[in-house]
Amino acid sequence: MTSGESTTKTEAEAPVNVNRKQPFPQGFLDTISTGWAEPDNSAPALIEQAPFAARRRAAVSAAFVGKRLVVPAGALKQRSNDTDYAFRAHSAFSHLTGWGAHSEPDAVLVFDPTAEGHDVTLYFRERADRTTSEFYSNASIGEFWIGPRPSLEQVSAALGVATRHLDTFETGDADLVVDESDELTQFVSELRLVKDDYEIAQLQLAVDVTAAAFDDVLTDLKSATEHRRGERVIEGVFARRARMDGNGVGYDTIAAAGPHACYLHWTRNDGKVVDGELVLMDAGVEVDSLYTADITRTFPVNGTFSPVQRKVYEAVLEAADAAFAIARPGIKFKELHEAAMTVIAAKVSEWGLQPLSAENLLHSETGGQHRRYMVHGTSHHLGIDVHDCAQARREMYYEGILEEGMVFTIEPGLYFQADDLTVPEEFRGIGARIEDDVVVTADGVRNLSAAIPRTADEVEAWVQRLRD
Ligand code: GLY
Ligand code: MN
Repeated sequence: MTSGESTTKTEAEAPVNVNRKQPFPQGFLDTISTGWAEPDNSAPALIEQAPFAARRRAAVSAAFVGKRLVVPAGALKQRSNDTDYAFRAHSAFSHLTGWGAHSEPDAVLVFDPTAEGHDVTLYFRERADRTTSEFYSNASIGEFWIGPRPSLEQVSAALGVATRHLDTFETGDADLVVDESDELTQFVSELRLVKDDYEIAQLQLAVDVTAAAFDDVLTDLKSATEHRRGERVIEGVFARRARMDGNGVGYDTIAAAGPHACYLHWTRNDGKVVDGELVLMDAGVEVDSLYTADITRTFPVNGTFSPVQRKVYEAVLEAADAAFAIARPGIKFKELHEAAMTVIAAKVSEWGLQPLSAENLLHSETGGQHRRYMVHGTSHHLGIDVHDCAQARREMYYEGILEEGMVFTIEPGLYFQADDLTVPEEFRGIGARIEDDVVVTADGVRNLSAAIPRTADEVEAWVQRLRD
């Protein structure tokens, strides 16, 4: 990687990298700004998401009459020295603008109150023209470094929003700023609880690409078993599909082989993939609109569950099916978890892992012993964020009522750590989770990930078909 003269950071914050800075002699300065054809200024078509984003903005406007609102996209984040992480806009900003993978750092969406509602303006740093040093010497935003950037007119045409240069943006006295104002932050988070048709289609797309990525992993499973860090092979194969057909992974891939499956967010992924063991893979592709899937499958490396592996797997499947069976508009979100836990508690009791009846395990005050084997929740909302709507009030989320259009995961699991002395030895080191992404319909849920094999028999056949 080469380096430029400056970044979007102020001079005071900028890392001092002058030890390899090359001077620009006068001959360079005389030639660099001229001799270029006119940049492409053609207006792109309005994006498909634009009318949906307009409706979301109208809902925000109606809720905050007379208030000036600011929704920042966020800034580039430093990884180290003069390298940044890839830019990813704030989810509320993306939701309200429809601007996805190619949004500009430091952009702000502003709602200025008017007699009728709000004037909405998107401020961003328009590309600099080629007479400026930004063009050739700014490694963070200069077009010579990062490639073409859009004009104000092009972004306005694509998103259907008025645009202005960021330099003209001024903070005002009556600002409510997302992430600085609880009422606005909460509102824009809750606005995402029910997905519109565009969002559901994008989530289906994300799931479909994720399904292809899972197939890729199984196709390369043998090579994973042959590498000393086979989990990394799995992670890499998944990431290849995520970058080829999407924007990337929606969160760090969990590629957990053998006992690592018992670590809920195992992302170190430096273990071996061993015949006879299970792999728990929890991964999701984020598509260019930034909507992400979140899918978990647990599969036997050699294509056949051992009897005890199958027993654990089918208990988890039964727990998931119990949540599926009750999911419909009108129930509470938390009932999904309660349904899955009823099955988990029954298994823990039946298998004698805890010397208590299922009823005692489920007792609201003295119970919960079974949660030792599944400490996480059964469901979370899914959308632009893998854990979507994170600032919604508890009464709208965990205690909230399911509505048509909500999208969430159903993902029970059972995890028996290798050193858990409360379980028989044959269970130790087995972890299984099954995670699907569902959308609430008029009378139930539709499983967006139904095409990915799910029962123990289907999973075995899947591995056997693609491996080798
Ligand atoms: N996919 C990881 C999680 O839901 O926490
Ligand atoms: Mn999840």
